[in-house]
Amino acid sequence: MKLESTSEHINQNLLNIQYAVRGPIVARAAQIEKELEKGVKKPFDRVVRANIGDCHALGQAPFTFIRQVQALVACPQLLSSPDIPDDVKARARELLADCTKGSVGAYSPSQGLLVVRRRAAQYLSTRDGVPAYPEQIYLGSGASDLIKAVLSLFGGDLDGKPSAVMIPIPQYPVFSGTLSELGIQQAHYYLDEAQGWAMVADELERSWTEASKSSAVRALVVINPGNPTGQVLTRENMEEIIKFAHRRRLFLLADEVYQENIVSKPFLSFKKVMHEMGAPYSSMELASFITASKGWAAECGARAGLVEIPRLTETARRAFEATRAVAQCPNLLGQCALDCVMKPPAPGELSHERFAHELATVRRTLCERTATAYQKLNAIPTFSCNPIDASMFAFPRFSVPARAAVAARAHGMTPDEFYCLHLLEETGVCVVPGSGFGQAEGTLHFRTTILHPREEFSYMMDQIANFHVRFLKEYEDERSEG
Ligand SMILES: Cc1ncc(COP(=O)(O)O)c(C=O)c1O
Repeated sequence: MKLESTSEHINQNLLNIQYAVRGPIVARAAQIEKELEKGVKKPFDRVVRANIGDCHALGQAPFTFIRQVQALVACPQLLSSPDIPDDVKARARELLADCTKGSVGAYSPSQGLLVVRRRAAQYLSTRDGVPAYPEQIYLGSGASDLIKAVLSLFGGDLDGKPSAVMIPIPQYPVFSGTLSELGIQQAHYYLDEAQGWAMVADELERSWTEASKSSAVRALVVINPGNPTGQVLTRENMEEIIKFAHRRRLFLLADEVYQENIVSKPFLSFKKVMHEMGAPYSSMELASFITASKGWAAECGARAGLVEIPRLTETARRAFEATRAVAQCPNLLGQCALDCVMKPPAPGELSHERFAHELATVRRTLCERTATAYQKLNAIPTFSCNPIDASMFAFPRFSVPARAAVAARAHGMTPDEFYCLHLLEETGVCVVPGSGFGQAEGTLHFRTTILHPREEFSYMMDQIANFHVRFLKEYEDERSEG
């Protein structure tokens, strides 16, 4: 087959995938790094990557307990080492006992190791005060893997109409990208920036009504805590959302991966709120996602996550389990990392003191950076940033002079892409334009990761502030946002 006909015959859905957190600006950042290595002169000496929520890439040290357990399960000879605490050894033995022939080199059941799912059920029931069951928990190679598996339940036409799934704007592009890949329509609903990125019931209704004219809307995605927006929904807001989903008979996908990255408010899961609302809401269908990539562990490279699906009809469960079986099983070392996240060392256990110390460092960093980012970004002319309740990002809004917007269009870019590219070229700071997540018409944003080491973070904030003032001057004119 000739190359030309191959491109005609490939799945056209794949051509629609966009994933800005690894998009063209990030590719340019990589080129600039190479140029710096070759000695090309720039007005800066390094690229500061703030495009992706990858704490270890920003210098977070790994948790000793997790890595020791992984080391032992990968290399059981180390079980006799006198340097490894006994509670680590006990955990590794327990995990290995559930692996086929005691080896992480063997496939596990496609749903994941039972020992890990039991531990996850314990974590979830303690968190919510609502029973959780290992049979309703599926492990995956990261939350992305599981999000795709759950979304794939909603592919195809229904009653002669194409399927649609409601997603927030702004959103994390795993949703838009996966829906594009699966050929499922996106029904956008806008978060209300003026109300701290709340989900407004009227807007949900508007989006549903609009999308229902041409498609069968089958599910609603909620990201709480939000990415890129960093908000934590109130209970009242969650109740409104649940009522809306119930009224419109929508399956609720609750992306709750930042639940351990909250600074100031308590975390409430959708499962708990549904349960406490009682009938008929307590029997609604729901999938809730957790990942080892976020939270305190932030083990992105482990590619480990879970989804709890407390209620699913028998046919849907069979279909879901079939897609999981085709994927064989999640990464075994990742499953072991997730096990440690679900049950870290408890007080009184040998590894606890060290764990508690490591945890305190991570929590302190998150609290400090969220406060500093909020303060520093709001001090930049034309910037406004909502309080950051959670997650690892700031998503400030800003405006640029009308002449900059014209220049952007002349270069075939949106004004935020133009701005972020200039920021990168002039300062080495790599952030993601708001258009990569979606944003209300006529507004401009970018998303920056905030978990860099203190000095680096401070340097980055100064670079952004100074650049912005220069940029305003360069394109000085009447201010415009679009
Ligand atoms: C909101 C949200 N959901 C899901 C994911 C996917 O995480 P992973 O596939 O690494 O578990 C991410 C990653 O950044 C995210 O921010």
